[in-house]
Amino acid sequence: MTATLPKGRLLGLGLGPGDPELMTLKALRLLRATRHIATFAKGGRKGHAERIIEPYMDPSQQLIRLEYPLTTEVHFGAREYKSALREFYDRATLQVASIMRGGADVALVCEGDPLFYGSFMHLFVRLRGDFACEIVPGVSGMSGSWSAAGLPMTWGDDVLTVLPGTLDAPALIARLHHCDAAVVMKIGRNFAKVRQAIADAGRMKGAIYVERGTMAGETIVPLAEFSGDAAPYFSLILIPGNGRRP
Ligand SMILES: C[S@@+](CC[C@H](N)C(=O)[O-])C[C@H]1O[C@@H](n2cnc3c(N)ncnc32)[C@H](O)[C@@H]1O
Repeated sequence: MTATLPKGRLLGLGLGPGDPELMTLKALRLLRATRHIATFAKGGRKGHAERIIEPYMDPSQQLIRLEYPLTTEVHFGAREYKSALREFYDRATLQVASIMRGGADVALVCEGDPLFYGSFMHLFVRLRGDFACEIVPGVSGMSGSWSAAGLPMTWGDDVLTVLPGTLDAPALIARLHHCDAAVVMKIGRNFAKVRQAIADAGRMKGAIYVERGTMAGETIVPLAEFSGDAAPYFSLILIPGNGRRP
């Protein structure tokens, strides 16, 4: 006997890097056509994705805030952190599934691209066996940032490496030695370590720091001119390749 799929679908809508005009036409169409809009948020605060969709929301739509547990005092590698997050994603999955079981679609809106370091993936892998899913790609934060910076990133056969700033310093240095162009994401509290690793790998020249790329309050400066121990969550470092140029 074949089970029929419930009617409601999970829509993963990529919203782009911050500027609401960088959302795709398809994401906008599905956003406007869906009553239940889910978004991840922290500590009762309005999330970044929520800000991006604000200009397009209608009062008849229902916003479902999936609020992360408070884990600021716990290291992300700790067992408590992992189990708190696992329970959170399990609960969020049940909440979204109950709406879809009732026959309605749920659009889970995601900053940047949903399948690129996106929390969306945690719900997607839990739900895709039971519900139809549709994913709309988005302009990623790094792509929005290099466009905002007007920075040609990769030429010819340049290899681009994307590094999470959560890696330890030796791993960052080793990877930076083996790439032409690089993007370092998730720098936040790892900023001082990341900056030092870039200097130690001899890649400071040409490195650009981007904070809140394409959003209000955007900052774009050479990394060499930016110091400090921490950077905000929405920040990354771009290291362009030099490649073959005619
Ligand atoms: C969990 S990842 C999510 C990435 C997202 N799905 C994407 O496609 O860009 C979050 C990290 O992306 C980077 N990021 C995303 N958007 C950004 C922006 N507009 N400006 C600067 N950094 C951004 C930051 O490094 C941040 O810590």
